[in-house]
Amino acid sequence: MDEPIGKMESHNKVPRGFLVLLFGLIAFGVYYIAAYTPEFSGWSQYKSLEKEMAADKAKAAALAGKMSENPYERDEKAVAEGQVLYAGKCAECHGKNLEGGDGPSLTAHLKYGETDARMYESISNGRPGGMPAFDRDLGRDRIWKVLAYVDSVREYGKKP
Ligand code: HEC
Repeated sequence: MDEPIGKMESHNKVPRGFLVLLFGLIAFGVYYIAAYTPEFSGWSQYKSLEKEMAADKAKAAALAGKMSENPYERDEKAVAEGQVLYAGKCAECHGKNLEGGDGPSLTAHLKYGETDARMYESISNGRPGGMPAFDRDLGRDRIWKVLAYVDSVREYGKKP
């Protein structure tokens, strides 16, 4: 049994499974490096970051949009609650039917703006000509309800 070393070696073939694994790993390595090399794939950590920041911005904008729109618009229950609040807090100055009194009519043109956001601001922060701020007294939720009532009167006229 005096075979030369080189010949002995040739009996022991490398197992096929090992070769598959080896080339598989090499292929994966090449792919991985290429995929994360900006010159090859265009991938960049700055681009990824930019994408995430854009998504965050869009989310924030959507939230801000919601804040400036009345969540109770045309919600009958909220309008009814708003009517009660109006009678207690606003009618003394703006009139029982929003026709005005010490304060201006709320059914006519509003000089500080007639969008949900502007009217919310008028009620929440007050206005210099004698309109008190109601943010503490009513809070966000009830201000929107009063506004839902005011809007419903502006849109449909005096409720029966
Ligand atoms: C003490 C009297 C008083 C009370 C109470 C009062 N307001 Fe006013 N309000 C005023 C006056 C006066 C103005 C005009 C302010 C100005 O011109 O700067 C005004 C302005 C406003 C405006 C803006 C009008 C415009 O022309 O842009 C809105 C909206 C408004 N009030 C809603 C309400 C609501 C809703 C309530 C109840 C939660 C209320 N106010 C309670 C006196 C009052």
